[in-house]
Amino acid sequence: MIVGVPKEIKNNENRVAVTPAGVAELRKQGHTVYVQNTAGEGSGFLDEAYAKAGAQLLPSIEEVYQIAEMIIKVKEPIQPEYALIRENQLLFTYFHFASSEELTRAMIARKAVCLAYETVEKADRSLPLLIPMSEVAGRMAIQEGAKYLEKPLKGRGILLGGVAGVKPAHVLVLGGGIVGTQAAKIAAGMGANVTIMDISLPRLRYLEDVMPANVDTMMSNEYNIRELVPVSDLIIGAVLIPGAKAPHLVTRDMLQTMRPGTVLVDVAVDQGGCIETCRPTTHEDPTYIIDDVVHYCVANMPGAVPYTSTLALTNATLPYAMQLANKGWQQACRENRELQLGLNVVKGDVVYKGVADAFELPLTDVREHLALQAIR
Ligand SMILES: NC(=O)c1ccc[n+]([C@@H]2O[C@H](COP(=O)([O-])OP(=O)(O)OC[C@H]3O[C@@H](n4cnc5c(N)ncnc54)[C@H](O)[C@@H]3O)[C@@H](O)[C@H]2O)c1
Repeated sequence: MIVGVPKEIKNNENRVAVTPAGVAELRKQGHTVYVQNTAGEGSGFLDEAYAKAGAQLLPSIEEVYQIAEMIIKVKEPIQPEYALIRENQLLFTYFHFASSEELTRAMIARKAVCLAYETVEKADRSLPLLIPMSEVAGRMAIQEGAKYLEKPLKGRGILLGGVAGVKPAHVLVLGGGIVGTQAAKIAAGMGANVTIMDISLPRLRYLEDVMPANVDTMMSNEYNIRELVPVSDLIIGAVLIPGAKAPHLVTRDMLQTMRPGTVLVDVAVDQGGCIETCRPTTHEDPTYIIDDVVHYCVANMPGAVPYTSTLALTNATLPYAMQLANKGWQQACRENRELQLGLNVVKGDVVYKGVADAFELPLTDVREHLALQAIR
């Protein structure tokens, strides 16, 4: 198959969808890989490395879209890319269709085959192409939190791990999923005292088993949150209710009970945030202060560490990309239900219920495009 890897053009997006190692794997299976000049530069992968791995470099994004049967990207296509997408072309990338009617209608009009990273789903309902970014964001939440606790950055001036004779900081993590678990682990590793809250008792049992001794687990409810907020130095929001806005677990009035310089990192900001006073910020201007409390609410945290994020993402996407390249999208999706669930828009038809529901568009049974018998 002819695979194309364009350079991301969304503002501040430095990740790339295929690394030189990925190119080498695709080449081994006999595929041709075209990579746009400087596509990997933001992540530290230079053109020479791609060329050495067997990629053919192309100077413009237009040429990549023109020649490739499958485009592998990181972010959803944006307006200037719409017209480049060709009928029947396979696009494998994050789309997040439900949050953009414009994008959905544009992809319908282009009649492309849109396989979305975020809806590729395993039998246990986990989302293998979202997990790596949650892992990065969870770990980064503590790194950023520790930084903003420093006095010059308006924090309390407390070192997470303390020192001999001085108590460490207290970190409260709301939500014990992927983000929360990674955050708790890093905070504990830095020597902080950590409490992690969740509403799932089985999840709390699991965390109690695997976490080090300086991590306590606690049921998430308003009473417990109100009790811990005044004594916490760093609070991480890491809650997710699939398909819904995050609940406001830290309310505006709770800010009054916090010590000045407390830091809030709301990782769940992309789903509306679980801290009432949170609003999305950017890496250029990541924080703001309300009632002497520092708020860090960057909606694309992994974007700040593109080297790690690119490798984490491509480790997860490459095995699927290989299946698509080796078998073609129809055969690959027939044989692998995980990939099949990634199909959102196919040749002008919406085939994913969440997207059809979001914009009241007709839903087509994906099996019609896969020549599969309907199973009733
Ligand atoms: N800002 C960023 O750059 C960035 C990056 C990656 C992920 N995220 C976001 O981080 C959030 C968490 O993602 P995840 O992968 O950890 O999700 P996850 O599904 O693995 O975990 C969410 C956890 O929240 C728990 N939960 C639900 N309601 C709760 C409540 N009331 N109190 C306490 N816990 C509750 C669930 O039981 C679950 O364990 C999502 O909104 C995700 O989109 C943001």
